[in-house]
Amino acid sequence: MNTTDIFRLVHPAIAVFYVFPLIGIATYFALQTRQRRLAAVNKEKTKIAPVVGQEHVKIGRLLAASVVGISLLGMAHPLIKTIIGNNVWAEAPFQVVFIAAMYGLTIAAFIVLYQAKTPAWRGAFATLSSMGIIILGCQPGIFRRSNEWFISHYYYGIVAAVLMVISVAALPEIYKSKAWRRSHIALNVIALLLFVGMGVTGTRDLLEIPLSWQEPVVYQCDFANKTCE
Ligand code: HEM
Ligand code: HEM
Repeated sequence: MNTTDIFRLVHPAIAVFYVFPLIGIATYFALQTRQRRLAAVNKEKTKIAPVVGQEHVKIGRLLAASVVGISLLGMAHPLIKTIIGNNVWAEAPFQVVFIAAMYGLTIAAFIVLYQAKTPAWRGAFATLSSMGIIILGCQPGIFRRSNEWFISHYYYGIVAAVLMVISVAALPEIYKSKAWRRSHIALNVIALLLFVGMGVTGTRDLLEIPLSWQEPVVYQCDFANKTCE
């Protein structure tokens, strides 16, 4: 394996050994939080500890940051590869500065979102963070699989990251209103399905992408008819 191939493994490896376990822990506490709340509503006895709600939120906040982080990391390798491979720094330096600035602004907006108190500020920084993720995803070099968007690792990842941003932005509202609690559950069930999709599409993409020293040969193949001379 060459260095570029090893760099390509960083994102999938962190997703597998860090992000997916967190998804499991957050989901486990989510179910317990709901079971405990329903038991209290029905005045039933329960052995579930009262801290499960707080634990869910603690892991949830970490999970949201991790999913946004892993998406930014997933985009970093193809972007850097394109910048180096196409000599972009020499030919269009503004594009490199723009991408670096977008990374900085997106991360800054997301950090501020965690501190923001009023609904207006939370809405504003959630919008800025989501826009940053989407704008970075539109840059050249990212394989979006737009003709097959419904099985695209890219589209699933962007939607999952934005759903996590929404969870952080709406955090206080989940306690306050039934409608927000229900929306939170519905949106995160979709996020869970997308995470399953991330596992499937990510491993498929790893299988399809050739090792760097194989690229010159593999990219001569006819991908439509699935033949190699
Ligand atoms: C895997 C993703 C997630 C799933 C499946 C999920 C699901 C749930 C469920 C089922 C509940 C219980 C609702 C009820 O009592 O009926 C809940 C509560 C809650 N969730 Fe999530 N959630 C996820 C991620 C997050 C994230 C990322 C955050 C915030 C950063 C978050 C914040 C909250 C809050 C504040 C509550 C209320 C806790 C309480 O009542 O004590 N969740 N969630
Ligand atoms: C929550 C989990 C994950 C999220 C949010 C996520 C997100 C992303 C995003 C946004 C990209 C950039 C767009 C693209 O090239 O498709 C990407 C790239 C990629 N992801 Fe993931 N991903 C996740 C998990 C995984 C897993 C589990 C694998 C494989 C085991 C994987 C393998 C890849 C590969 C091979 C690329 C292409 C990277 C490159 O060109 O160097 N991802 N991911």
